Amino acid sequence: MIVVYWWQRVKKLKTISPHWDNVEAPCEFASHCGGCKTQNLLYEAQVRAKEQQVHELIVHVGKFSDKDPEFDGIMKPIVPCDIQFHYRTRKDNHVKSPEMEFSFGTRKWVPEEFLHQECDETNEYALGLHAPGFFDKVLNINKCLLQSNSANKVLAAIQDIWRDPELGLSPYDVHSHHGFLKHLMLRSGRNVETGQPELMVNFVTSSYKPELLKPLVEKVATFPDVVSIMNNVNTSVGNTSVGEEEYTLFGKSTIVESLRGLKFQISANSFFQTNTHQAEILYKLIEDCSCLKGDGSEIVLDLFCGTGTIGLTLAKRAKHVYGFEIVDQAISDARHNANFNGISNATFVQGDLNKIGDNFGEYFPKPDLVITGYPLTRFNLPICCYFSRGVAFLFLVVLR
Ligand SMILES: C[S@@+](CC[C@H](N)C(=O)[O-])C[C@H]1O[C@@H](n2cnc3c(N)ncnc32)[C@H](O)[C@@H]1O
Repeated sequence: MIVVYWWQRVKKLKTISPHWDNVEAPCEFASHCGGCKTQNLLYEAQVRAKEQQVHELIVHVGKFSDKDPEFDGIMKPIVPCDIQFHYRTRKDNHVKSPEMEFSFGTRKWVPEEFLHQECDETNEYALGLHAPGFFDKVLNINKCLLQSNSANKVLAAIQDIWRDPELGLSPYDVHSHHGFLKHLMLRSGRNVETGQPELMVNFVTSSYKPELLKPLVEKVATFPDVVSIMNNVNTSVGNTSVGEEEYTLFGKSTIVESLRGLKFQISANSFFQTNTHQAEILYKLIEDCSCLKGDGSEIVLDLFCGTGTIGLTLAKRAKHVYGFEIVDQAISDARHNANFNGISNATFVQGDLNKIGDNFGEYFPKPDLVITGYPLTRFNLPICCYFSRGVAFLFLVVLR
């Protein structure tokens, strides 16, 4: 049988009458930005659609029957978040990622209605989010409703000065591979003693030239919430914000966040749940669903563990937690976080889970519970083979 896949791009011409779930998007950039694509959809409708998507995956791809009386135990109902804006602790990554980043660009995305306006060459430079479907065009923005007010103030301050020709700063050109500034990452945490917000500002550049960043650093360091200014140097031509080298330009190299009563230290490149408020609820749900006896007899395997947050929140009820993760920095944060919280029954191993061998199961005792923060489609054959041997009592897939 030959299967032909066919697709076409469609464009809305006009609205005859709005859908009953249509709402006015609160963000002025919503219709042109590649960040939030559903802001004009009622939140309850967004939640319904997301739940439906997961349901379809579980039934059609996972082949679980929703007629099964135990289906409720296979898929838990979606839990809506009671805050929809200013919740996001990190803005990064690029256009195809579920997360977003601020990118510096040589080509400003100009929505059709503003095309007639003239602009000079430096006005073509942009800092913001990628236009939908374009890796080389950036919509210039000075605020984003998803991030905190203090992060927005920092973004606006950088926007105010970075194009000043006297500073000699140039955005990186993804075609010619010339230019200096690649990405801006803003990451929020909080001082766990005072509860005050803390902000990490990370400039991703194509080379290490701290003297060029000095005016931006001096400006940004005046904001009381900014406790860390980092510089990740990424010399590759790819569009990633992870640097091969990392330098601390001001303050600390990590920020702190608390979750389920534990404190977590987070570096610029380590994954940490981007909505701390909802992560509290998610992690409570994981604890409840984990069915751990709490007598310290069970082994937990935390795959794709990031900074170790899920495993560490379960450690007090487990015999031992084993976490696996590809990012070096995340593993050193996870180890540090275990010590930071006085947890000694957790082991974190750096490695690529797509490259595990048949002997994977020899590195730890047979687990009673496996947690994976990634959907099954990310698994490769060896890891599926490992699981197909029925190694675990309970398997929890955590979808954000
Ligand atoms: C969505 S995050 C989940 C992190 C953690 N479970 C949590 O909830 O905080 C996925 C993690 O998988 C890691 N990862 C991605 N590909 C990987 C691979 N091939 N091997 C190991 N870890 C990987 C990423 O670096 C990231 O930290």
